Amino acid sequence: MKTRIIGNKIISLLSVDSTNDYARSLLSKETPEEGTIIISGDQKQGRGYGDNVWHSKRGKNLLFSIILYPEFISANTQFLISKVICLGICDYLSSYISDVSIKWPNDIYVDDRKIAGILIENDLVGSSMKNSIVGIGINVNQEKFPADIPNPVSLNQMIEKKLVLKDELKNLSGFLEKRYQMLARGMDDKIRKDYHEKLFRLNEMSWYQNGAEKFKAKIIGVSDYGQLILENQSGKTLEYNFKEVEFVL
Ligand code: BTN
Repeated sequence: MKTRIIGNKIISLLSVDSTNDYARSLLSKETPEEGTIIISGDQKQGRGYGDNVWHSKRGKNLLFSIILYPEFISANTQFLISKVICLGICDYLSSYISDVSIKWPNDIYVDDRKIAGILIENDLVGSSMKNSIVGIGINVNQEKFPADIPNPVSLNQMIEKKLVLKDELKNLSGFLEKRYQMLARGMDDKIRKDYHEKLFRLNEMSWYQNGAEKFKAKIIGVSDYGQLILENQSGKTLEYNFKEVEFVL
């Protein structure tokens, strides 16, 4: 494995539909160098998890995708990629602010507000990983958000300072690289432990919703397969896939 992977090659765009879609189209034509970053100042159709859209004001925030080939993990533990990416973003944000946490499955929170979102799209061949498109949106310099976005926050709102996006990308890439190298070196236990400790609402009895049913439970972990593990008030363990359970905020 090369010494440095993430960000050796950067494709910088002014505007694109979605950096994840750009990465996908690149992968359909060639084999880009591992760690290639596609970054754009604007997205016309920025995508979020599920059917969500990703809002970002032109030129204000970090919007990018990384192309990875994590052939060293098996398809059934692909959620480990999400774990290392979440940790890399937390490490980066924690260099500026405190109370950064991972809201399962794909959000990064500061206290109870969302500062970043992750959209990972994997291609598999049988039980192996072929490639992974890691889409990251981080609110950096945006000062105002549309009223219909639930609980947004930016770094600028937290530290009252404008940041240079190019420098921030370099800075963040370093943190992501460190965590990705941990995965490549098989340090899965350390990754699991660090991720666990960063979970939003870990061990706090709170409200959750499964369809029409609201119930109280506490998060006790997230499996390698990406399921949220809750313990309800009777001490029963419950496992949920994305969309099967919602946080009541
Ligand atoms: C979410 O919170 O639902 C995930 C948001 C992911 C947004 C990023 S921005 C760069 C990349 N390109 C996209 O279209 N989406 C991701």
